[in-house]
Amino acid sequence: MRILLDTANLDNIRYFNTYYPIEGVTTNPTILAKEGGDVVKQLSDIRRIIGEDKELHIQVTETKFEDIIREAEALVRTFGKNTYVKIPVTDTGLRVTKYLADRGYGVTVTAVLTAAQGMLASNAGATYVAPYISRSENLCADGIGTVADIAAIFKTAGTKTQILAASFKTAKEVLDVAVAGCHSATIGSSIMRMLISHTTTDTSILGFERDWKSAFGDTTLLKLLEK
Ligand code: E4P
Repeated sequence: MRILLDTANLDNIRYFNTYYPIEGVTTNPTILAKEGGDVVKQLSDIRRIIGEDKELHIQVTETKFEDIIREAEALVRTFGKNTYVKIPVTDTGLRVTKYLADRGYGVTVTAVLTAAQGMLASNAGATYVAPYISRSENLCADGIGTVADIAAIFKTAGTKTQILAASFKTAKEVLDVAVAGCHSATIGSSIMRMLISHTTTDTSILGFERDWKSAFGDTTLLKLLEK
């Protein structure tokens, strides 16, 4: 499953873009509000850090059809290719999705809570649909099951739309959507760290270092090879 980073924090983006195999960055108005300041500069900095080939998903804030179209055009004009316009799944959102998809724009339909919404978004031409996992599970609904349902519907229909699961609160949810047939997931920095961390990994590495030192002292394998 492809992984994107769900943050607008430049330090975190720089770090994970350097060390982790991420495909891009997703934002929403709440994520951008958390960083504050000059939003256009912030998004430009994100684009500069990840480069022009990775995905940058930016959510529209306009609500009327014509205004969302203008906003979407401006977003792609400003932040370049591989910029995906995030549109909430509303009546107007579906209409905008169809309009933009027909003109070759990448559209991520977001705030998806049901498989029915995902199906409609796909039929409108969405590149991605973004089902919200923890926001769903917090309401005692089955967020993971919704991803599985959307995956089954897309498979049957042979649609090109991909699932970009979002809104995670645990690392287990990330694994669960992968097993449920999700193509991509966007994950915050703390969950990203949880995905790799394991105390037994840490103690194993310490053990390797200790055993090497007790047998070979300060000599390293590299030193021996380059002798
Ligand atoms: C994707 O970008 C979504 O907007 C985001 O994952 C929502 O996450 P939250 O439910 O933690 O706010």
